[in-house]
Amino acid sequence: MICLTLAHKTIDECVSDVRMNRQYIDLCELRVDFLCDKDRERAYLFPSLVDVPVILTVRRKEDGGAYSASEKRRKELLLRCLDGDFAYVDIESDIKKGDVEEKAKQKGVKIIRSLHDFSGVPSDIYSKIYNLSQKGGIAKVCLYLNSFSDVLTLFRIQEELKGVEKIVIGMGPYGVCTRILYHFLGSILTFASSNEAAPGQLSAAELKRIYRADKINDRTAIYGIIGNPVSHSFSPVIHNQGFKTINYNAVYVPFLVDNIRAFFSLAETLKIRGFSVTIPFKNEVLSFLGNVTREVKQIGSCNTVVRVPGMWKGINTDYYGFIAPVLPEIESSRIKSALVIGAGGASKAIVWALRNYGVKVIILNRTLERAEDLARMNFCQYDSLDNISKYSKTVDLIVQTTPSGMVPYEDENPAEGYVFSGNEIAYDIVYKPKMTKFLIEAEKAGCTLKFGSQMLIEQGKLQFEAFTGYHYPQSIILDEE
Ligand code: ATR
Repeated sequence: MICLTLAHKTIDECVSDVRMNRQYIDLCELRVDFLCDKDRERAYLFPSLVDVPVILTVRRKEDGGAYSASEKRRKELLLRCLDGDFAYVDIESDIKKGDVEEKAKQKGVKIIRSLHDFSGVPSDIYSKIYNLSQKGGIAKVCLYLNSFSDVLTLFRIQEELKGVEKIVIGMGPYGVCTRILYHFLGSILTFASSNEAAPGQLSAAELKRIYRADKINDRTAIYGIIGNPVSHSFSPVIHNQGFKTINYNAVYVPFLVDNIRAFFSLAETLKIRGFSVTIPFKNEVLSFLGNVTREVKQIGSCNTVVRVPGMWKGINTDYYGFIAPVLPEIESSRIKSALVIGAGGASKAIVWALRNYGVKVIILNRTLERAEDLARMNFCQYDSLDNISKYSKTVDLIVQTTPSGMVPYEDENPAEGYVFSGNEIAYDIVYKPKMTKFLIEAEKAGCTLKFGSQMLIEQGKLQFEAFTGYHYPQSIILDEE
């Protein structure tokens, strides 16, 4: 079930939030603590104004809520609210049996016993959940995840506490994957919001339309992307749309990872079938692979990993994604020479691809040694990025492969000093924003432009084939904007 958290000042705003999200949600949670004083008094009316079951919550400040008056007044407020037809009431784990619980039971309102920890995952979390469940009702834990190891701990809850009815939420950026894969935590629901009421919360539309989170079941195959950062990635849209179109019971999830070993451990726990790899793991992932393709060996970096019997296999689809949009120009000899800015993981695949097609390449990098190493591997020229002006108007293609120019560095242009002739093809692998400063300058000079989104989509389609064995559906029109 997808539950919409309503953290607004007025009942009217809460009602319109439910109406706007109605098609994506199964129930909602009224956070009475966020309502203004006047509307707190009429909160009991709320369930009659919407057509979904409602959870009643008056969260205290110390638990991450907005209620700061006395405990006595909070209980009085809860009792008044229970005059309305709420389906559930949230009662914190430290609250002793009393009038609120009594009234809820009399009215057939289900009790959720909640525990919040904004500092991290307690070491005795499994017994804490078990103890909560023993008090009767649904046990709920909301924990801030500080690292990927915390993600692992959360996904083991289901193994430890299989028969327990529970709600488990991982908060913060590391928790995003737990909010999508809540079924694998054994959680009966996940929370969504239109104003990120808790850190890491996704919108109901994202959970339902992109991830189909409410349709995930034991047989759902899990795929994903590992990176740091990863939240900006467009890959979940590419793959989840593909899965849906070919009717494949699978989900593709962003995993923010700080420790790649911990991720491989989770990959075993969840039986993850395959994943994409982005900054900064394209090199580090190699040591975890039992088998790699010839391209991965030669390029020295891997952006796609699939499970094969007994091991993980590494593939590189970046080189194809990069070359596909310029292949016609290479084949017609419009492109015979190229300047490549940057010498990192992405540049490795790009330089390899260009050399493979016989294009003459000059690598320019901020750190000269890295340019030299890459140039040596691929038999091409190199220089310091400081000397870029020397290469003005000398090449057919200029490729920008660094994160400079990408959000939040939109004001940067690593090719500053280069004077375009207007005959070059300018290619930026950054896809957010679409028009980087580098591409704006190139367009002014009259150059043909190639966009990072084209590369992303092409490499994603090939990755989809590696994951599923099917071609990417032609009917899908992808546009990252
Ligand atoms: P990726 O795997 O995405 O290529 P990477 O391996 O960290 O990431 O490489 C990033 C590339 O962008 C490097 O070539 C880096 O230059 P250095 O080798 O000197 O570090 C380059 N880069 C990053 N920020 C840059 C900036 N502000 N200006 C110019 N080059 C930059």
